[in-house]
Amino acid sequence: MVINLSDQHSLISNWVSELRDVEVQTDPMRFRRNLERIGEVVAYEISKKLAWKEKEITTPLGIANCKVLESQPVLATILRAGLGMHTGLLNYFDMAGNAFISAYRKHNADGSFEISIEYMSCPEIDDKVVILSDPMIATGASLVKAIQYLKGEGGFKEIHIVCAIGCTVGIEYVLREVPKATIWCGDIDDEITAKGYIVPGLGDAGDLAFGQKMQF
Ligand code: URA
Repeated sequence: MVINLSDQHSLISNWVSELRDVEVQTDPMRFRRNLERIGEVVAYEISKKLAWKEKEITTPLGIANCKVLESQPVLATILRAGLGMHTGLLNYFDMAGNAFISAYRKHNADGSFEISIEYMSCPEIDDKVVILSDPMIATGASLVKAIQYLKGEGGFKEIHIVCAIGCTVGIEYVLREVPKATIWCGDIDDEITAKGYIVPGLGDAGDLAFGQKMQF
């Protein structure tokens, strides 16, 4: 299932428009904070879909019948671009487990690239809800590879994928490979360049948040 949050009128559209804007995105702190804010609000939306249980809470004046999450999700992200959204998700799911995967594009001389994963840290994820963030779903290749690595750690119960901008072709690829995923997108664009950048997109999310990197 794909949820395009730009179909609804919400602040998310405002923050995505700032992420895209060549004049606003020169401020890395604002860029990171906008990713974080999207993560926070999507955490709230996802929380409505999770399982809840009743819990009696003792207040100074009596007993309140409250609802609490049945179990904590695992928040997973792809380094480094996912860190801002991950922080936002963790601000709201503040007791969640955390997984980090270092997927990057290893470029070949002819301009093609493969996804290389060299590091992962992951808590117990058997039967857990996994919320995987990556600001840009371009080809979908790094997400699919990251999910394969996560599956190697245990059979999770369900997976939510959170992005700021998804590209149609990448979203379709992820859903073909992981049909049970729910994909939450701040917005969806239709075009992708030969180098794997989304058009109109926003540019390189990792560079805009953390500065330019060397190419490997
Ligand atoms: N990653 C980015 O940062 N930007 C894109 O457009 C695609 C992948």
